[in-house]
Amino acid sequence: MIGSPVDYDKKFKENLPIQPAKLDWNLKRYLNLIPGKEVLDLGIGQGRNSIPLAKLGYNITGVDFSYKNLERCKELCPKLNLVRADIRIFEIEKDKYDLISSRCVLHFFHKDDMHQILHNIKENLKANGLVYIQVFSVEDPKLQKHINSNNFEVLENNILHNIVNDTFVSFYTKNEILDLFSDFKTISISEEYFLDQGDDIPYYSGIIKYVGQKITN
Ligand SMILES: C[S@@+](CC[C@H](N)C(=O)[O-])C[C@H]1O[C@@H](n2cnc3c(N)ncnc32)[C@H](O)[C@@H]1O
Repeated sequence: MIGSPVDYDKKFKENLPIQPAKLDWNLKRYLNLIPGKEVLDLGIGQGRNSIPLAKLGYNITGVDFSYKNLERCKELCPKLNLVRADIRIFEIEKDKYDLISSRCVLHFFHKDDMHQILHNIKENLKANGLVYIQVFSVEDPKLQKHINSNNFEVLENNILHNIVNDTFVSFYTKNEILDLFSDFKTISISEEYFLDQGDDIPYYSGIIKYVGQKITN
């Protein structure tokens, strides 16, 4: 493991902003391809994506490092199975999960760590299971902002090291994500550039969304 996990409990010392739950359209339209009901959400946050899935009858296991986010998840949906862990060392039970999702989390790592997490996901996902991820794209304005900031050390391949808190943030291209999933069947890949109005001060984001399926011979 390289560096520290992003600490959301420190980031939002007092008030955790409330994030409305809404199942992503990119995933919603492929629910019919998920072979069963077991879902693992790595970096569940406040359950924005998983609480709507729980309401549809899926059994959710959510992993997160933030006590505050896990508490909020439990309040909002007591039936979630929640685990506090760093997803870089969380052991995924083999052949248990029909869907493994990690939305807006995997960019918060050095790419070597992200590759290791993807390896664990791909190895342990059930046959025909789906994976759903969202990561920052190289079009995200934060990339240039961080490059120009004294707080970041610029490493190779769009990886940045925050020297203040020893965390990493990485930015991806669509081809890079497709290469990482070259052994999966691509169900959908898209890139978006949009004004994110979720926080107090709206900001632009660049995101890659990928849905893939584990195909066995
Ligand atoms: C931007 S939020 C996304 C939450 C949720 N997936 C969503 O889409 O709303 C990132 C989440 O990842 C969690 N996280 C970041 N690094 C982590 C790590 N190493 N292990 C576990 N959780 C982590 C944070 O605590 C936070 O809840």
